[in-house]
Amino acid sequence: MKKVMEVLRPVRWESSELIILDQTRLPDATEFIKLDKVEDVWDAIFHLKVRGAPAIGIAAAYGLCVAMRNTDAKSSEEFLTEMRKNSEYLSGSRPTAVNLFWALKRMEKAAFASKDKTVEELKEILIREANTIRDEDESMCKAIGENALTLFHDGITVLTHCNAGGLATSIYGTALAPIYLAKEKGWNIKVFADETRPLLQGARLTAWELMQADVDVTLICDNMAASVMAKGLIDAVIVGCDRVAANGDTANKIGTYGLAVLAKAHNIPFYIAGPTSTIDIETPSGKEIPIEERNPEEITCGLGRRTAPLGVKTFNPAFDVTPNELITAIITEKGIIRQPYDVGIKKLFE
Ligand code: MRU
Repeated sequence: MKKVMEVLRPVRWESSELIILDQTRLPDATEFIKLDKVEDVWDAIFHLKVRGAPAIGIAAAYGLCVAMRNTDAKSSEEFLTEMRKNSEYLSGSRPTAVNLFWALKRMEKAAFASKDKTVEELKEILIREANTIRDEDESMCKAIGENALTLFHDGITVLTHCNAGGLATSIYGTALAPIYLAKEKGWNIKVFADETRPLLQGARLTAWELMQADVDVTLICDNMAASVMAKGLIDAVIVGCDRVAANGDTANKIGTYGLAVLAKAHNIPFYIAGPTSTIDIETPSGKEIPIEERNPEEITCGLGRRTAPLGVKTFNPAFDVTPNELITAIITEKGIIRQPYDVGIKKLFE
């Protein structure tokens, strides 16, 4: 299993180079690309070559290392000013996943705490912090998997949406971490994966990575979820998250909210899995979470050819917010939280 997982490691720092698995090429090609400039990192995040909240944070952290490795700064003050500019620039690549801002803030904090150091030392400090963010994400994913597994049993079938697997994190994933652990334990576990329109992260990425790990996965179109639930085929829904507000309202890939409504209607538990780096206690509720709207062409030409009339009006939000009352539990690396979420989340950060 570990070997399969290593292939899934989507963000790598090797010999001072940032290398990512280009997820826009999956499932046709497993292509790793080098990001030489900070603009390449911005572009990779914006175009979803690297995507998934935790992986975006890790890529941005290394993006700052890329930005600063050939700096002309002569003093630590110059270095910190230039770093802050690059951090601001990277933070404009996508608005919803809070891990992006969380990771950049952490990188800035580490550098500013060492402002007496030399420029060369500051470069090293940035790399060390980015490595720590990546390593911590790996341990968080493992712990989320272990915590989630306490809610599952041998023979369970779960439904998931988008991709919250190894491809979306440092390794292992969040919503898919318990699936890999169950598989390792020899459990008979089955997954239904929503294809996840418009960009098909479920079909292209989740189905692909689960198949790599030999997990029993069945692909469905998004509009089939209700029917599959009504047939009694789903025991639980588990998805990832891009930002959890202080009251538990959760932003995740567009379509997640609908799935939560369906789960409630069919009396199926609906779980959110995510590291505490995805919980944003500064955002009081889902109403304040900024929702990214993407290029209309994703829905009018999404499948490589025009699928809607030229000039048709479109609305293409990349995420939606699931109100906390529809969430059975939020599974983090520190434990499982249930209603009332504002209390549980506050405790988590104490
Ligand atoms: O637009 P994407 O592909 O970055 O959206 C990803 C998701 O919505 C994931 O479910 C979320 O980031 C959690 S990843 C562990």
